[in-house]
Amino acid sequence: METKLSAIVLAAGLGTRMKSRKAKVLHEAGGQALVEHVLDAAGAWIAAERTIVVVGHQAEEVKALLGRRGCRFAVQREQKGTGHAVAICEGEAERAGRTGRTVILYGDCPLLTAETIGKLVRAQERGGVAATLITTVLEEPAGYGRILRGEDGRVTAIVEEKAATAEQKKIGEINSGIYCIESEVLWKYVGRLKPNPASGEVYLTDLVEVMEGDGLRVEALVVEDATEILGINQRVELAAADGILRGRKARELMLGGVTIRQPETVSIDSKVEVGQDTVIGAFAQIGGRTRIGAECVVGAGSVIRDSVLGDGVKVGEYCFVGTSVVEEGAEIGPFSRLRMENHVGEGAQIGNFVELKKTRFGAGSKAMHLAYLGDSDIGAGVNIGAGTITCNYDGVAKHRTEIGEGVFVGSNSTLVAPVRIEGASYVAAGSVITETVPREALALGRSRQTVKPGWVKRRRGGE
Ligand code: UD1
Ligand code: MG
Repeated sequence: METKLSAIVLAAGLGTRMKSRKAKVLHEAGGQALVEHVLDAAGAWIAAERTIVVVGHQAEEVKALLGRRGCRFAVQREQKGTGHAVAICEGEAERAGRTGRTVILYGDCPLLTAETIGKLVRAQERGGVAATLITTVLEEPAGYGRILRGEDGRVTAIVEEKAATAEQKKIGEINSGIYCIESEVLWKYVGRLKPNPASGEVYLTDLVEVMEGDGLRVEALVVEDATEILGINQRVELAAADGILRGRKARELMLGGVTIRQPETVSIDSKVEVGQDTVIGAFAQIGGRTRIGAECVVGAGSVIRDSVLGDGVKVGEYCFVGTSVVEEGAEIGPFSRLRMENHVGEGAQIGNFVELKKTRFGAGSKAMHLAYLGDSDIGAGVNIGAGTITCNYDGVAKHRTEIGEGVFVGSNSTLVAPVRIEGASYVAAGSVITETVPREALALGRSRQTVKPGWVKRRRGGE
């Protein structure tokens, strides 16, 4: 029978060095919270119901964020150190099934890949050792726990920066905080760890020395790519991790057939999907759960969030698209704002300085310049003239505007909602529309022009 894997993710700390009111693991890099990256990587190997997340600072917020993943939680009321955080998981681990092996991860290491967790697990599977931990060699190891090795090269202990002697501080090999350990051994020893006399915290890292002292072997898996185990303790590191995650994402997309202009300026969140031969312009930002089809264009400086773009959609320069769906072949921008919850039909065109909010905009319809279309249902083949405004708010409530298929709305029209403009009708330029416009009618809602010949000369007097 295959040995079962469990995971413990430590995410209870406030992260004092972040100088934030927000718990450290909730800070975002690559478009999602640090701890979410860790769970994504762990999830490749370990079932959610066997994953325990230790929460403490802002426990409710962390639980709310991760709740839908189906993982378990253990609450560490006081943050008495990484060793204490693991120890309090025992009850929950009992329920999750405490046999097999446990992978321990720190919630502040978002760059770790599923591949590396896999290597760690396979190294531990080779047998003969109680635990394997991931280490790497850094030129600037300050801040990390250092790996002490015996004469024979075996890992004998981890010494924390604070407790390290000047000589030990020169050691370049550091602890990543990622371990795979036989579960039985873990639960036998973790409760025995003593608080550090200087800090009063229980260090998980002391486990190595305790196990070694009992004749158990601990092995290190030294990884080449040190960026993978960057632990985020302050905001400079947060920014560095963000850059690395975005770089990885851009690379993944380019290798998958997406063109990215000046990729170092572009920011694409981890979960974004982009189809083949789509071209992404410089300084574009694509975030959240956005899905972009094939052969699309995202213009320079455009921001797209939590939206779906069908194949062949062209978004010009400097547009904003939020929580909207844009169907195949539609064209947006430059300088358009699809604020929220819009649905733009196939082949429709939204031009410069047009704002849409909670609007269904029919297939092939056009609003090429300077318009506000809010809370509207607009049919197919409609032409919205420049300067058209839906007055959707009366100071108390929002109201809808309905525009049937094939309607022509003349420039500078004001549509006072709730109002209905039925199919194939015309609204004359400059109209204020407050009542239903019947099908195929022309509505004029403006005062007549009067012309006073010779008025200027009379005003000047004399004649
Ligand atoms: C830890 C390691 C260090 C390693 C480094 C790698 C220890 C004692 N030290 O140091 O050897 O080089 O990570 O990044 O383990 N946490 C809790 N409860 C607590 C304390 C911490 O859940 O009581 C969580 C934190 O939220 C964080 C993680 O554990 O996600 C690590 O804690 P942190 O304070 O960042 O430890 P480091 O000083 O970075
Ligand atoms: Mg840390």
